[in-house]
Amino acid sequence: MTALSGSRRIWLTGASSGIGLALARRLLTQGHRVALSARREAPLTELAGAGNNALVVPFDTTDTQAVARAAERIDDAFGGLDLALLNAGTCEYLNARHFDMPLVARVLDANLYGTLHCLDAALPLLRRARAANGRPLLAVTSSAAAYLPLPRAEAYGASKAALSHFMEALRIDLADEGIDVSVIHPGFVKSPLTDRNDFPMPLRISAEAAAQAILEGLERRRLDIHFPRRFTLALRLLGVLPPGLRFRLGRRLARPTDMESRP
Ligand SMILES: NC(=O)c1ccc[n+]([C@@H]2O[C@H](COP(=O)([O-])OP(=O)(O)OC[C@H]3O[C@@H](n4cnc5c(N)ncnc54)[C@H](OP(=O)(O)O)[C@@H]3O)[C@@H](O)[C@H]2O)c1
Repeated sequence: MTALSGSRRIWLTGASSGIGLALARRLLTQGHRVALSARREAPLTELAGAGNNALVVPFDTTDTQAVARAAERIDDAFGGLDLALLNAGTCEYLNARHFDMPLVARVLDANLYGTLHCLDAALPLLRRARAANGRPLLAVTSSAAAYLPLPRAEAYGASKAALSHFMEALRIDLADEGIDVSVIHPGFVKSPLTDRNDFPMPLRISAEAAAQAILEGLERRRLDIHFPRRFTLALRLLGVLPPGLRFRLGRRLARPTDMESRP
């Protein structure tokens, strides 16, 4: 059975904008029961509309107690989960000459620990679906930035590389329990997150195209869902170059303005 056949019980985080919003629209239209999460309640309520297959569960992924309460509400309403799609995340770039530890902590908290708090809360619900002879799926949104260290992406790239590594290992350990794991590695996608970027974003695709690629990958329970493939395959290839070559490449990609601000 594919991951999204029939009507599934799904928890989607980061549903208030960008890729998550496009995913939520598709999943609700397909008739799944979807718990919609993000910090902002208003866009989630608007998204849920008048339909009866959405549950609005706003919270901050970095607040462990709020995450636990959210999972309890979802369990009460759905009685388990067939798919946990943990997509919430953020991006902030570092200027290494003005090392900003609060920025680093914010990015790691949201992208790594926030996702892992949700994963911790979702696992018992996925196990309940497993006990009822289902084959639940746990999916997280990492980034193609996990494939290659890039200038100014120390915190963002590290948060996503750690997440990808964690999930790939977890897939091995959850296999015996019958829980599948997918890791999503998008290239550039148009969203409020990338609208803030002031640098060229090669092969940037729409949030709707990203949602389509993610749902196709989830259907097939792919370990690594990456797109657009021309971009992600190139990054993966560059990621396995010797460190000296990766350094020279990184120096070419560093922006002249950042270099000028260096003492
Ligand atoms: N766009 C890209 O090019 C791209 C590329 C690679 C990976 N990604 C990843 O894709 C995911 C979605 O990004 P996007 O581009 O769609 O960005 P986005 O439009 O900024 O969406 C981010 C979502 O995460 C939620 N969120 C952020 N911090 C949260 C927190 N602490 N607690 C709860 N919810 C939180 C936001 O909702 P609230 O603000 O309402 O909380 C929003 O719904 C992220 O994990 C991002 O790193 C994006």
